[in-house]
Amino acid sequence: MAPSAPSGSISTASSPSSATSTSTTAAVASTSEAARAGAILTIDLAAIAANWRTLRDRAGPAACAAVVKADAYGLGAARVAPALAVAGCRSFVVATLDEAIALRGVLPEGTEVICLGGLPADSEGEFQRHAVTPVLNHLGEVERWRVFARWRGTPYPAVIHIDTGMNRLGLGPDELDRLATEPDRLDGLTVRLWMSHLACAEADSPMNAAQLAAFRAALARLPAAPASLANSSGLFLGSDYRFDLARPGCALYGVNPTPGRPNPMSGVIRLDARVLQVRNVDSPMTVGYGATHRVAGSGKVATVAVGYADGYARTLSGRGHVHVGGAAAPVVGRISMDLITVDISHLPDGAVVPNAFVELIGPSRPVDTVAEEGGTIGYEILTALGRRYHRVYTGGAAEGL
Ligand SMILES: Cc1ncc(COP(=O)(O)O)c(C=O)c1O
Repeated sequence: MAPSAPSGSISTASSPSSATSTSTTAAVASTSEAARAGAILTIDLAAIAANWRTLRDRAGPAACAAVVKADAYGLGAARVAPALAVAGCRSFVVATLDEAIALRGVLPEGTEVICLGGLPADSEGEFQRHAVTPVLNHLGEVERWRVFARWRGTPYPAVIHIDTGMNRLGLGPDELDRLATEPDRLDGLTVRLWMSHLACAEADSPMNAAQLAAFRAALARLPAAPASLANSSGLFLGSDYRFDLARPGCALYGVNPTPGRPNPMSGVIRLDARVLQVRNVDSPMTVGYGATHRVAGSGKVATVAVGYADGYARTLSGRGHVHVGGAAAPVVGRISMDLITVDISHLPDGAVVPNAFVELIGPSRPVDTVAEEGGTIGYEILTALGRRYHRVYTGGAAEGL
């Protein structure tokens, strides 16, 4: 009853070089780590690369970066970024300097690493040593990077973030005025990009046009340089939003950048967890902590080896579903640290047995559906994916890895 996994060559996370042509979860499970794993997370590198090509084509003639912060949204930047580089991506975006340094170790020459989180105190030397381009989020950072570049006698690149409505990071209106009227503040720097970020790109919101207008007005006052505005959803707002470099993240990993409309991206992960026990239950029994689920009549409950310690959101308690035996089955009772309980009363006896796998996320349970059931967003489901899963990467051979 184990669901079939995506076909294609596979390699396990623990032995990335051991790619084989084996093609099913059952075959994966023949390796000892997988055989004892409670849950198996399969990540399709070819699908991520295909999604990047789709976004690149949509971005054109603008270039297309890949946002791989937060360990490539939980999927493993050390595997994802090289696959994207082989696909042709040349610009990679992370949040922290440590993420950037780690990325440098796996990316080929000729790629650019942009770090969103600004210029932490005394970090200039590390940015320079690892050839990481900082996103400068206020004039103090612009000044420190400029002083460093002048001291080194080299015009280092910088991305400068203009806030057009997020009120989070970036130069606000006062700082923009000062930079526009005192452009010598940029002497000794190469502005690689003027950047801004959309607050409501996934929605049909007047904020989008307002931010676009504010960004254009800012660019008109600043020295000419390439510009970047669109994230994944921004790429679907129209060509006005594309500028010179698009910065998609979530869509690479299969999250729908156009909520409410069909998902133009391919699914990238599947998460299968093992059934540990199948129990017969009957009224007036209850299931799980807090006895929140009352059994209505005679039925069956499968206990599955995944829990909130694996990032399976506790908010899915009594709301989520898994796919098993060819049908959806509801998660009943509270999600525990290591276990969930699933009502399989509607399935024939023997359809779900111990050691079978249920699909938690995958073709039958897209990440956006799981997120909606859990009252959250696909980003959070992905970045919470746990460290205990046995990870399997497929599609590496297709990417020449
Ligand atoms: C500045 C910036 N650019 C691009 C992205 C990528 O956004 P998305 O994952 O929605 O494509 C993010 C993500 O948070 C971001 O903070």
